[in-house]
Amino acid sequence: MNPTKSAPVTGGGTSAEVRRDTLTIIDNRNGRLYEIPVKHDTIRAIDLRQIKIHETDFGMMSYDPAYANTASCSSRITFIDGDKGILRYRGYSIEELAEKSSYLETAYLILHGELPTKAQLANWSYHVTHHTFIHESIKKFLYGFHYDAHPMGMLISTVAALSTFYPDAKDIFNPESRTKQTYRLVGKMPTLAAFAYRHSLGMPYAYPDNDLSYCGNFLNMLFRTTELKYRPNPTLEHALDILFILHADHEQNCSSTAMRGVGSSHVDPYSATAAATAALYGPLHGGANEAVLRMLLEIGSVNNVPAYIKSVKSGEKLLMGFGHRVYKNYDPRARIVKDNAYEVFDVMGRNPLIDIALECERIALEDDYFVKRRLYPNVDFYTGLIYQSMGFPVTMFPVLFAIPRTSGWIAQWEEMLLDEEQKISRPRQVYLGQDLRSYIPLEHRS
Ligand code: ACO
Repeated sequence: MNPTKSAPVTGGGTSAEVRRDTLTIIDNRNGRLYEIPVKHDTIRAIDLRQIKIHETDFGMMSYDPAYANTASCSSRITFIDGDKGILRYRGYSIEELAEKSSYLETAYLILHGELPTKAQLANWSYHVTHHTFIHESIKKFLYGFHYDAHPMGMLISTVAALSTFYPDAKDIFNPESRTKQTYRLVGKMPTLAAFAYRHSLGMPYAYPDNDLSYCGNFLNMLFRTTELKYRPNPTLEHALDILFILHADHEQNCSSTAMRGVGSSHVDPYSATAAATAALYGPLHGGANEAVLRMLLEIGSVNNVPAYIKSVKSGEKLLMGFGHRVYKNYDPRARIVKDNAYEVFDVMGRNPLIDIALECERIALEDDYFVKRRLYPNVDFYTGLIYQSMGFPVTMFPVLFAIPRTSGWIAQWEEMLLDEEQKISRPRQVYLGQDLRSYIPLEHRS
């Protein structure tokens, strides 16, 4: 790996002696040649630092705005092959999990690396269920919000506030403490979300019911009114459970990166989850499902779709719910969501916006603009339609994403903490600003 001052390489050889797991770089500024190790089709950016013209130079860096081609960690949680449209959690395909698993089981898998045994699942479900209550003071924070406060704003604030109730969460290198915070976070996120929803309606809060499933209880806290015992509709409960499975993790996306980045400062997991939730709120990430529904409402009718597509192609608008940084074939979650939508429509009635969505998809999949750019529906394209049919206001859509993603965030956070190669996240920059200059007194400035 030491810089070698050698003759230019001829390159391109494929014979056995030439084949090595290295990358040869020639610096054409001075003809120096470097051999850099390659592992998992990746070079280490730090190995570039030896490339310099003068001994006193800082050395070469890689420039990668938005991490388009940079692995920031190694991970064993989620696998995506964007070209083939593959998504797997811990080696299990998303299709099989959506069909056969439950959200709590999938969350266990994501967090622990293996599917639970019967006893492990019972124990995990018991602990999550018994950590769903929130401190009564959280209600006082909620009272401070306007009736029309966005529930994501309320969720971000209240999950951050949890850190003040659980100072033991600062003990991040204690496995028992991490387990406890995991129960609390996975257990309390639905309660915080449901309370935020009830606050916007001015309705009294509905407390958790331990007899119900994770999703059944969530529906109970959202929609229960005067009934003595709330009984969730099994189709809706199951549909929500599938959506939660689909949203549980998605490797190094914007919010996981926020979770890892903020968590790398060794802050408690509630504060890091608040940061991840904030990242998810944006319309280019978890806020996209809300944006899709607003877009479909704006289009208004199937007849208006061609005009809308035209405005997308001319760059005035985005076709929300289309495109993905990683999936360049089809988002496998979108296919499952589409099937799921019809099951919900069977119970709740057909959402008329589905026809607009289908027409957008039909036109876009045939149109050169979208085909060339490999833009396909992502998970958010159809989820909003399901949520709307289930009775959720659009502002709740990103909240419905944040709840299940919490298990993925915690798994990413824990993996980061236990990875000996990880340190506090601190990217470099290419400074293009002014060189040193003298201060000009105010009276001399024009
Ligand atoms: N509508 C129209 N054009 C689009 C769209 C879209 N939804 N998405 C990308 N494009 C175009 C871009 O304008 C660009 O065109 P150009 O090459 O002529 O400049 C090209 O496709 C490539 O797009 P990028 O923005 O470079 O792709 P990137 O990987 O950075 O962005 C993103 C991915 C943010 C998801 C983008 O596709 C987008 O904004 N989609 C709409 C929002 C959305 O649905 N987000 C949800 C993502 S899924 C999730 O977070 C759960």
